[in-house]
Amino acid sequence: MFELLFLTLYSLLLVHSSKGLCYEDQVTCVRTMRQVLVNTSYYWFGTSHNETCQGSSSMSCDNPEPIRLSLASRLFGLSDVHNKTELTALTRQVKLAFVTFNSPAGSIFACGHNFKIPEVANYIVDPLRTMAISSWSLQKVPQVAWDSPNNQTLYTVVIWDAGHYHLHGLYINCYQSSLISGTTIFNYSAPSNPYYISNPVVVLVIPQTVRLNQSSVAQAVEAITGRHQGRFVLSEFRDQFSQELSQRPSHINIITLEADPFSVQYYKDKFVVDNCALLISRLTPLHQVAKLSNLSMSWGDNSTESTDFNNTYLTSLALNLAVTYNTGDFRVEYCCTNYSITSGMFTANPFDESPVRSAVVRLRPRVTLSPMNMKDANRYRSRVYTLFMVDVAPAVEAGQSNARYFTHWLVTNIRNGDVSSGDELSEYFGPNPIIP
Ligand SMILES: *[C@@H]1O[C@H](CO)[C@@H](O)[C@H](O)[C@H]1NC(C)=O
Ligand SMILES: *[C@@H]1O[C@H](CO)[C@@H](O)[C@H](O)[C@H]1NC(C)=O
Ligand SMILES: *[C@@H]1O[C@H](CO)[C@@H](O)[C@H](O)[C@H]1NC(C)=O
Ligand SMILES: *[C@@H]1O[C@H](CO)[C@@H](O)[C@H](O)[C@H]1NC(C)=O
Ligand SMILES: *[C@@H]1O[C@H](CO)[C@@H](O)[C@H](O)[C@H]1NC(C)=O
Ligand SMILES: *[C@@H]1O[C@H](CO)[C@@H](O)[C@H](O)[C@H]1NC(C)=O
Ligand SMILES: *[C@@H]1O[C@H](CO)[C@@H](O)[C@H](O)[C@H]1NC(C)=O
Ligand SMILES: *[C@@H]1O[C@H](CO)[C@@H](O)[C@H](O)[C@H]1NC(C)=O
Ligand SMILES: *[C@@H]1O[C@H](CO)[C@@H](O)[C@H](O)[C@H]1NC(C)=O
Ligand SMILES: *[C@@H]1O[C@H](CO)[C@@H](O)[C@H](O)[C@H]1NC(C)=O
Repeated sequence: MFELLFLTLYSLLLVHSSKGLCYEDQVTCVRTMRQVLVNTSYYWFGTSHNETCQGSSSMSCDNPEPIRLSLASRLFGLSDVHNKTELTALTRQVKLAFVTFNSPAGSIFACGHNFKIPEVANYIVDPLRTMAISSWSLQKVPQVAWDSPNNQTLYTVVIWDAGHYHLHGLYINCYQSSLISGTTIFNYSAPSNPYYISNPVVVLVIPQTVRLNQSSVAQAVEAITGRHQGRFVLSEFRDQFSQELSQRPSHINIITLEADPFSVQYYKDKFVVDNCALLISRLTPLHQVAKLSNLSMSWGDNSTESTDFNNTYLTSLALNLAVTYNTGDFRVEYCCTNYSITSGMFTANPFDESPVRSAVVRLRPRVTLSPMNMKDANRYRSRVYTLFMVDVAPAVEAGQSNARYFTHWLVTNIRNGDVSSGDELSEYFGPNPIIP
């Protein structure tokens, strides 16, 4: 039995070495991870919180313990300022927990588009990098493995969103370096993040001094989440079991998450926030236009990694636009052939690069505006907007010295999010490949 376990760990290590920055040089990685744990400006809830959030009430800025700026102060319930020495000591000997995800290939419908998700085989979490796989692929319980000095020690494993304090899994009395060897107190649920503000989910392995009582741990978890509106305050849990749990965790990993199509759609379905516009803003054409037209736009941090798109996102966005064409019946005789299309609906899909027939977009579309923050519907209603539809292709095409744009539609003074209420300064003219 034990030999088998050893083989599993060994083969895991073999895969590690071929993947990810952290596994090429584990010594440096672990040293950097320890620095990250006590760094008070590494995450959104750190020293930059006020600047990043500027009083925003959005979910991404909802900070359960604003006085705790580092991961370590959140894990241990200590002060970043007054207990700095203790925090450093508590994290000094921590090692890396190996967290591995597996998932079949699939496809998801998000923001009006069908995204294909590739298979994930032994994806190993790197604590220093943003996850490079879709959050759809995180739905199966990950494997968590750690090197244990003996086969007597029992462990508690906690999977915990250290940004928003949500519990994503809790297992006690684990031996054999795996979750399934223990008892489940709180079932695993996949973490996700609809924002481009990196959020850490910590996987924590804590040695136990004794076997824990399942029902008393379950009661404690229920009591803590009950006291904090569903949030799990880890330091309270550790205080309650200070005799049964070791003072310091032996192994840690950090699952760092950012928005991706799956998480954006997940929160859209829950009517919390609709961040589809953020995803769209990463598409290359918008970046080309911004560059060529010298529009001053506020872009997010482009140093973060994303698998879906490689540009940064627009931080100023507050609305989603839905553009729907009702095509009507249409028939034309051209060069001795009758062309016709039957009426139907066409919704613009920025993620789809396949061409659209001009006939489909020849009539003025219905454009609906909706706030990204769904709890913030009134603020956008009180504002006045201008809608501008422009063909940038002539400007974007390489080698154009006299870059020019073609206006297809211009509506100003849009109130109440109702485009038809605005003043149409330039009448709608359908996009057409042969414009003058
Ligand atoms: C803490 O993190 C910030 C942001 O990543 C970084 O700029 C800074 O150098 C880090 N500080 C230390 C002491 O590592
Ligand atoms: C953020 O702002 C609040 C009030 O404006 C202030 O009390 C707090 O100290 C600030 N936090 C940081 C980390 O600057
Ligand atoms: C943390 O700092 C406070 C204030 O200085 C102190 O009272 C407390 O004992 C410290 N906690 C630990 C665990 O050192
Ligand atoms: C525990 O480890 C010892 C050696 O360290 C070994 O002899 C024993 O068989 C192991 N027990 C189990 C249950 O694996
Ligand atoms: C975890 O999920 C399984 C399967 O859905 C269920 O049978 C079990 O009761 C759950 N355990 C807890 C602690 O919620
Ligand atoms: C576990 O705790 C409950 C009360 O929370 C107690 O009734 C039960 O006897 C305990 N079980 C063991 C094995 O100690
Ligand atoms: C953008 O700025 C550059 C350099 O300042 C200038 O050469 C170019 O003509 C500008 N483009 C537009 C569309 O204004
Ligand atoms: C990130 O943005 C900065 C400033 O906007 C730019 O200079 C830099 O080239 C960008 N980096 C990448 C990788 O796009
Ligand atoms: C950007 O992403 C696409 C697809 O995700 C990829 O094919 C392309 O090579 C990437 N470009 C750069 C410069 O990384
Ligand atoms: C196109 O349709 C019209 C009206 O139905 C018909 O009169 C005409 O002959 C057709 N032309 C061709 C080339 O089929």
